[in-house]
Amino acid sequence: MTLAHAPGKVILFGEHAVVYGRPAIAVPVTQVQASARVEPGEAGQGVVVVAPDLERRMVLREAAEDEPLACIVRLTLSLVSADPDPDLTITVTSTVPVARGMGSGAAVSTAIVRALCQHFDYWLTSRAISDLVFQTEVLYHGTPSGIDNTVISFEKPIYYVKDEGWEVFWVGAPLLLAIADTGVVSSTKEVVANLRQRYQAEPALHVPVLDRIGEVVADARAYIEQGQRETLGRLMDENHVLLQRLGVSCPELDRLVAAARSGGALGAKMSGAGWGGNMIALVTEETRGRVDIMLRLAGATRVIVTEVR
Ligand code: MEV
Repeated sequence: MTLAHAPGKVILFGEHAVVYGRPAIAVPVTQVQASARVEPGEAGQGVVVVAPDLERRMVLREAAEDEPLACIVRLTLSLVSADPDPDLTITVTSTVPVARGMGSGAAVSTAIVRALCQHFDYWLTSRAISDLVFQTEVLYHGTPSGIDNTVISFEKPIYYVKDEGWEVFWVGAPLLLAIADTGVVSSTKEVVANLRQRYQAEPALHVPVLDRIGEVVADARAYIEQGQRETLGRLMDENHVLLQRLGVSCPELDRLVAAARSGGALGAKMSGAGWGGNMIALVTEETRGRVDIMLRLAGATRVIVTEVR
């Protein structure tokens, strides 16, 4: 039996603009994770993927080409195994909330690749794993930037520019983040496609906003490296306003962002695709308790505090 895990993620700055070539910053969140267990199955069964939490059972040979779980298993097996349908049971569990901008799809795919590699005693670099997972991200999200699979496979804070590459960067002083869930499920694919339609219809309206987000992200990186938390908080506030202008926030996110600020957060913004999902607030040891209470009073269904270092 082999068992492997992968964390969730949040985007600190630059979501959506990253799809249009501007930089973005993302960090892994290890408090939530996806796990995959690979065990020998019954003779002749082929690969069976079981997801008890979702009450799902998928027989690989019967699954469609564009089924993301089947896709990641087939892609991995084509590299690590001579047999495209070995008798294996893969059990997938995850505490990464689904459809909340925390990279649940990429986390599950990464855990599956890692567990299969261990099972077949085959070593893949983090980059190779990230590239495999990207192919399933296309199925989940349509036109992904690639940031989710990168941050989750490498498990490091990253500064990411689509088609150019990414860098791990220095975190000058640890950042304490409260991540709060609106409880509203949203489809990254839908939000990204909707913004693309509006962008194509009116590029002159959207390009300046995307450009400004790009500048905010570059400044944010410098402030993270220098450990200047107050200024960073103000940039989070500005990034949130810019995302509102792109039409990807929603009343539930705006309510949580306002609540975090009234609780004393240094800054707050939505995180991920928007129209639901999670927001993040920059807190300190002194303010984390009060911010947590304010977020819950404003309707957060879950609050996780994580440290970025
Ligand atoms: C989703 O986690 C982040 C978006 O920027 C989409 C992407 O980068 O693929 C909204």
